[in-house]
Amino acid sequence: MKVGILGCGQLSRMLALAGWPMGFRFSFLADPDEPVRCVEGLGPVVRQDGLMTARDVYVAMGSPDVITVERESVCVPLLRQLKTFCPVYPDPEIVWAIQNRHREKTLVADLGIPLSPWEVFREHEPVQEAIARIGGFPVVIKSTEDGYDGHNQWVIDNSEQLEAFEKERETLLQKPASKGIHEWIVEKKIVFDREISVIGARTSNGNIVMYTSGENHHNKGILVHSVIPAPDLSELLHNKARDYISRLLQETGYVGVLAVECFVAGNELLVNELAPRVHNSGHWTMDGAATSQFENHLRAIASLPLGSTAHQGGVVGMYNLLGQKHSDDSRVPDQFIAQGTYLHWYNKISRPGRKLGHLNILAENEEELGGSFESLKSQWT
Ligand SMILES: Nc1ncnc2c1ncn2[C@@H]1O[C@H](COP(=O)(O)OP(=O)(O)O)[C@@H](O)[C@H]1O
Ligand SMILES: [Mg+2]
Repeated sequence: MKVGILGCGQLSRMLALAGWPMGFRFSFLADPDEPVRCVEGLGPVVRQDGLMTARDVYVAMGSPDVITVERESVCVPLLRQLKTFCPVYPDPEIVWAIQNRHREKTLVADLGIPLSPWEVFREHEPVQEAIARIGGFPVVIKSTEDGYDGHNQWVIDNSEQLEAFEKERETLLQKPASKGIHEWIVEKKIVFDREISVIGARTSNGNIVMYTSGENHHNKGILVHSVIPAPDLSELLHNKARDYISRLLQETGYVGVLAVECFVAGNELLVNELAPRVHNSGHWTMDGAATSQFENHLRAIASLPLGSTAHQGGVVGMYNLLGQKHSDDSRVPDQFIAQGTYLHWYNKISRPGRKLGHLNILAENEEELGGSFESLKSQWT
C-alpha cells in the first residue's frame, strides 16, 4: 500500500512510523518553503512549485494508492483534483467544511450537537450587534480561517478590548485579500470546568471505533498535557462525547481519524472544534492504547479492519515538549527515556513554543501521573 500525505510535519512522521511495520510506504507533499526534517528518511518528498498540475503531483508522489492529509489548511481544489487519480481520505469536502470555522460550526449545529452561541461577521460589518445577539461580553473572536494554537484569536471582556480589536481589524483589512483576514466568528466565552477531546475513526464501510476521552490542559492556546481517561468524567459526559463523535463520523460518511475538542460546563458538553486528522490530544494512544490513532487512521483509509482502541489500564499521560528560549533544545532529550517515559521526538529545529516532541507516561493513578508532570516541568523549562 502506497500512501501519499499532504504535509511534512510531525503528524506525517508519526503516520509513517506507524505504517512502515505494516508494509506501507509513504511519499509526502511539501509546500514551497515547508521544513521537511520530520519526515526525513521515511519516504520521498515532493516539493510543490506552484506550476505543477494535480497529475504532476500525483505522478511525482509515485502514484499512491490513497492520499491523506496531516493538516486542515490544505489546498482543497488540489485535493479535489487528486481524487480523480486515487481515493482521498478524509473526503476533500469535509476538509473544506472543517477548515473554515463558519462552515465547521454550521455542520455541527445542523446535526443538533451543542456549541457555544456564535455569529459570523465579515469585512466592515458591525460586531457590536453580533455580540448583542449572543448575549454580550465576554466573547472570543476568531478568524474563520488560518487559526491554530490560539493564533488569530481575541478574548474580549469589555468595550476597551473591543476597540483594540477594531483597530487591528482595520489593519488586517488593508492587507491584500489573499494575505489578510476578512471574516471572523464571534462566540460566547464559555466558563468551562475543563476541556476534553474525543477521537474516533471510521472506515468506508461504516465501521467505527472510539478512544477514551481525555482531559486537555492548554497554555496560551497550545496543548501542554493530556490525562486519559479524563479524571472523574461522569458516564453521562462520556456518553455524550461518544454520541457526538459517532454521529459526526456516521452522518458525514467520514473516512479516517476525526478529533473533536469539547468544553465541559456542568452536565453540558459543547463542541469547540473539529480536526479532520490525527490530533495532538491522541498522541497518548501510541503507548497507552492497543492500536494508535496513527495506525487506525491508516487502517481506515486502506479499508482494513480497525484495531482495538482499549486503553492499557491505569492512567495515561501525554506531555508536550515545547521549544524553550535557549537554543540547545534541538538535541534529543534522551534522559527522559531513562526516567521510564516514552519519548517521541520530531527532529525539528527548536523555536520558542514549537512542538518538538512529546512524552507518554503510563501511571498507576492520577497522583502518580501528577508527580511525573511536576518532575517534567522542573526539568523542561
Ligand atoms: N468560546 C470559548 N470560550 C472559552 N475558551 C475558549 C473559547 N474558544 C476557545 N477557547 C480557548 O482557546 C483555546 C484555543 O481555541 P480553539 O478554538 O481550540 O482554537 P485553535 O484552533 O487555536 O486550537 C481553546 O482550547 C480554549 O482553551
Ligand atoms: Mg483547538
